[in-house]
Amino acid sequence: MGSFWLPPAASATTDAVDPIFYFLLYLTSFFFFLIIAVTFFFIVRYRKRSDNQKTSALHGNLPLEIAWSVIPAILLVVIFVWGFNGFMALHVPPGNSMDVRVTAQKWQWSFDYPKDGVSSTVLKVPAGQPVRLTMSAVDVLHSFYVPDFRIKADVIPNRYTVLWFQADRPGSHQVMCAEYCGRDHSRMLTKVEVVPEKEYRDWLAGQKKSGLSLVDLGKEIFAGKGGCKACHSVDGSRLVGPSVKGVYGKEETLADGRKITVDDEYIRKSLMNPMADIVATYPPAMPPYAGRLDDEEVNALIEYLKSLADQPKE
Ligand code: CUA
Repeated sequence: MGSFWLPPAASATTDAVDPIFYFLLYLTSFFFFLIIAVTFFFIVRYRKRSDNQKTSALHGNLPLEIAWSVIPAILLVVIFVWGFNGFMALHVPPGNSMDVRVTAQKWQWSFDYPKDGVSSTVLKVPAGQPVRLTMSAVDVLHSFYVPDFRIKADVIPNRYTVLWFQADRPGSHQVMCAEYCGRDHSRMLTKVEVVPEKEYRDWLAGQKKSGLSLVDLGKEIFAGKGGCKACHSVDGSRLVGPSVKGVYGKEETLADGRKITVDDEYIRKSLMNPMADIVATYPPAMPPYAGRLDDEEVNALIEYLKSLADQPKE
């Protein structure tokens, strides 16, 4: 059900937004009208009644001052904890999510299905399936926004942002760009089309393949032009660098003791600027790939590593 304030909720992610949105709306409305009412009451009640009227002496009121400090402080902590939980829920996809890579470019969206070698300008997904969106931009700042799902995040060059959603009913939902990105910003629109599983399979099978899938392209670069396999094994054995088997999503300790999770951002950084975050016990021996791999090739390598992590554990 929609309301005057929000469109009908069409994704599991709306649970992270709608309750706190209404809480904030009612809470702030309550205090707004309370303060306005009290202000007007005081204006009338304590108005200057004659020209020589003296202002009465004012004394503090401890209980009142404690009340108006402690109550808002408690409310702010509640809002922070609630909001932070929602923020995390929106940015951490469920483990069984299907992957789609989102690319923003003046002035259109494109969606890559990394295992299938399919690229589309509408985001077609099966109903009832959580979908993880890994997003980056080619040129300038954009923002991926689906009001019906309550998801929105900046889409940035040379960096990845992650959102997810799960739409349980078939339907069509507006996608907007929510960051001014130049002349046709307002026309940077597309749809999320949620269809039954079977229809999705048929659609995917009927799409023209855009060459190799990202996973296969990544595999090819890994063994070929990237030269990665000289130092990184895919079977877990130790070479000059860490094995990439099952590395995606793994927590690693770095040489300086920090802990990181291997995600898209880390892999990209390790390719572009390998000296930045060296995994503990390994030598800083990797050459930088900045300028040698383009965005698609970097994404392909990431998808390949991701596919190695997807394999069932032996
Ligand atoms: Cu893209 Cu605004």
